[in-house]
Amino acid sequence: MLRFSSLPAPLDLHCLPQHVAVIMDGNGRWATERGLPRAAGHRQGAKALKELVRCCKDWGIPALTVYAFSTENWRRPTEEVDFLLLLFERLLRQELAEMQQSGVKLSFVGDLSALPPALRQEMQRSHNATLHNQQVHLTVAINYGSRAEITQICRQLAEQAQQGRLNPAEITEELLSECLNTTSLPHPDLLIRTSGEMRLSNFLLWQLAYAELYFTRILWPDFDRAAFYEALVSYQRRDRRFGQVSASQPRVAGQPIPALVSADR
Ligand code: IPE
Ligand code: IPE
Ligand code: MG
Repeated sequence: MLRFSSLPAPLDLHCLPQHVAVIMDGNGRWATERGLPRAAGHRQGAKALKELVRCCKDWGIPALTVYAFSTENWRRPTEEVDFLLLLFERLLRQELAEMQQSGVKLSFVGDLSALPPALRQEMQRSHNATLHNQQVHLTVAINYGSRAEITQICRQLAEQAQQGRLNPAEITEELLSECLNTTSLPHPDLLIRTSGEMRLSNFLLWQLAYAELYFTRILWPDFDRAAFYEALVSYQRRDRRFGQVSASQPRVAGQPIPALVSADR
């Protein structure tokens, strides 16, 4: 049963995003500011993620996708990469029982084949164990890169066409969407990036085409319930037009598009 008691008043429960994507950035800076090793920032960042999942559960947001490690993050010093991969493995082991208890379903996207076998085993185990949970679907992007994802789909479709199993005319946006790693989820309504950077860093480029973007200077380990609440309030103030003239007056299918009025400047 969902608890809404902790939801502050001004949020409209009926207009919450159904899928939130997050670029959890700023762990290193958080640690450096405190004279700590970067690893300390990553450990603290994991705590912030746990709280975000709790918020999604409390407020009834069914899907959350977080960027944990990009295809470009292999360029970091080996010690940091090794630390991160070990941290993921340890977290999955430690948190599984709580995820089970709170109804979190865990999935992963990215090129998992390049990850250490022990981590992959833990990922598979937690995915299988939480498969039927229904409160929050948490997808963790590990060794994920959107360009690699789209390139892989193009290769796969080209092969099918070459073998005569697919007519190129059948390659539609819908078909491509169905081939994405994130296919079981609706595309994100809201993207949050912390730490003040205003870029996507190769995250869900196709899926975020119509997401509302929210950038905050807060460093990821400091991103708490109040910060998430603020992001949701900002989301609810947006006018999501999807190319139409007004979001509040959706065009009836088949009705002509109102003539564009030339702007008086
Ligand atoms: C995000 O924090 C975590 C990962 C990319 C794994 P960073 O490690 O990028 O932190 P900054 O950007 O260096 O502060
Ligand atoms: C994006 O953060 C990747 C993750 C949060 C996992 P980065 O810190 O790697 O991105 P850039 O390098 O600043 O673009
Ligand atoms: Mg960063």
